[in-house]
Amino acid sequence: MSETVIDVKGLVKNYGDLHAVQGVDLEVKAGEVYSILGPNGAGKTTTVEIMECLRLKTSGEVRILGLDIDKGQKEIRRRIGVLPQAFNAFDYLTVKENIDYFGDLFDKRISADGLIKAVQLEDKRNVWFVNLSGGLKQRVGVAISMVNDPEIIFLDEPTTGLDPKARREVWKVIQDLKAQNKTVILTTHYMEEAEVLSDRVAIMDGGRFIAMGTPRQIIDQYGAGSICVVKAPNDAATKGVKDSGMQYEITNGDLCVKLDDNRSLAKLVNLLSAGEASYGEMLVKGSTLEDVFLKLTGKKLAEREGQ
Ligand SMILES: Nc1ncnc2c1ncn2[C@@H]1O[C@H](COP(=O)(O)OP(=O)(O)OP(=O)(O)O)[C@@H](O)[C@H]1O
Ligand SMILES: [Mg+2]
Repeated sequence: MSETVIDVKGLVKNYGDLHAVQGVDLEVKAGEVYSILGPNGAGKTTTVEIMECLRLKTSGEVRILGLDIDKGQKEIRRRIGVLPQAFNAFDYLTVKENIDYFGDLFDKRISADGLIKAVQLEDKRNVWFVNLSGGLKQRVGVAISMVNDPEIIFLDEPTTGLDPKARREVWKVIQDLKAQNKTVILTTHYMEEAEVLSDRVAIMDGGRFIAMGTPRQIIDQYGAGSICVVKAPNDAATKGVKDSGMQYEITNGDLCVKLDDNRSLAKLVNLLSAGEASYGEMLVKGSTLEDVFLKLTGKKLAEREGQ
C-alpha cells in the first residue's frame, strides 16, 4: 500500500460569516491523481490553497508529506508544486526566462530545457509569454509548477477556458506526471476531465465533499443505473411498457425505461417485438458523474466540453 501524502481531517475555513469549507476529510496516497470536482464557489480553491500553505485554515488538521501544516510550512513549500487558478507569468520574458525566474527561487531545481521538453514547448522556448495562446500559457504554468521537482503537484483548474484540443494537450502533460509517479491534485469543473484523468474524485458543493471514490464507485453508488431510450414508440409500445410494471418516463416523446438488472433489456426488447408495438430506434445509456452531480445537488456542473 502506498504511503499517505495528504491527510486532512475536519478542515474548516470561514471568511467572516461565510462558511467556505465545512468539515472536509481527505486522504491521498503517493502517485494518485485526485480530482476535486465542483461548481463555482464550492470551496475548491480555498481547500487546495490551505494545503499549499497559501491560506490559513480556521480549524482542522492538515498533514502534507507527513508534516503538520502549522509547523512544517517551509519544508512543505519546498516539496510541492503549485499552478494557481488564473495563473500568469511575466509577459515580456520568454518561456525559458520565465521558467528560470521561478526556478531560481528554489535551491533544488530542474533545468528549463528539461521542463520545456516535458510540456512540449521546444518551438516556443524563446517566445515572449504574452505571445502564447491560452493553452500554451497553461503548459508554461505546469512547467513552472514542476520546477523544484515536487512530490505533489496542485493544479487549480488547469484547463478552464481552453478549447478541446488545448485541453487534451494539458491532459497529456498530467498523464505524463502520473507516469512519473507524481501525486497530482486537480480541481476542475469538467466531469469528463475528472473521469479521464483521476484515480479518485471528490465531488464538492457548498463547502462539503458530498461524494468520494473512484469515478466508477461514485457512479455505481449514486447513479440511477442504466436507462434504455426508446425513440418514437407507438401507443402499443408505450402500453406494453406500462403494463409490464417496468419504471419509465416519457421525455420529449421518447420512452426512457429503467433497466434494473441484466435481464431487463431482454424483457424490454421482447415486449417491444410483440403484437402491434413499433418504435424508431433504441439506445442504452449509463449514468455519468454529471448525472450523479445533478442528482445530489440539483445543479448542473459547468457546460460540457465543446458546447
Ligand atoms: N479571500 C476571500 N475572502 C472572502 N470570501 C472568499 C475568499 N476567497 C473565497 N471566498 C468565498 O468562499 C467561497 C469558496 O470560494 P473558492 O474560491 O474556494 O471556490 P471554488 O470552488 O474554487 O470556485 P471557482 O470554481 O469559482 O474557482 C466563495 O463563496 C467565495 O466567494
Ligand atoms: Mg477556484
